[in-house]
Amino acid sequence: MQFFIDSADVDLIAELAETGLVDGVTTNPTLIAKQGRPFLEAIAAICALVEGPVSAEVAATEAAQMLAEGARLAQIAPNVVVKLPLTFEGLKATRAFAEQGIMTNVTLCFSATQALLAAKAGATFVSPFVGRLDDHGAEGTELLSDIRTIFDQYEFDTEILAASLRHPAHVKAAALAGADAATLPPPVFRDLVKHPLTDRGLDQFLSDWAKSGQTIL
Ligand code: G3P
Repeated sequence: MQFFIDSADVDLIAELAETGLVDGVTTNPTLIAKQGRPFLEAIAAICALVEGPVSAEVAATEAAQMLAEGARLAQIAPNVVVKLPLTFEGLKATRAFAEQGIMTNVTLCFSATQALLAAKAGATFVSPFVGRLDDHGAEGTELLSDIRTIFDQYEFDTEILAASLRHPAHVKAAALAGADAATLPPPVFRDLVKHPLTDRGLDQFLSDWAKSGQTIL
């Protein structure tokens, strides 16, 4: 399972990438606006830090303009993935980028039929928004399993990128559902490693080791 960081904070991404566990990055207009840094410059800085896919979202709503914006974004680095909304205009642009060999991430996916359309359009990734579905009173993680079943049934290559994940239980559910990738806000990524029994056990081992008076080196 690939782990992406859902952030446009370059320093934070650099810090988390040091774990060796970060496979890529996803951004969206909200995350970019939060940083207050020029969009293209921020994406270039992130692409220099991470070898894997870096999603950068278009702002246009018409396919022709999406194609122009996406082409500009794709020029930044070979690992840029053009992020497009799940609308018919976005799907037209997805199809055109697929024909040009440009990677795409179709975002704002809230139903299995939307994911099916993204796959038919040739998307590299589709991003179902788990947390926002939960907020809406639906079962976000069920959508991931439904999409997995459909994609496997028809042998679609489109990768399921679980997004809008709010806590480690969402990540576990995404892994159980067979999502290909999960994009994690930095606090969720950090929380994955935490367990109070790990902390307690380590404290105990370190204190017993100190009492033994031994050293390894
Ligand atoms: O990048 C899209 C996504 O992960 C949004 O998450 O928490 O704003 O619903 P959230």
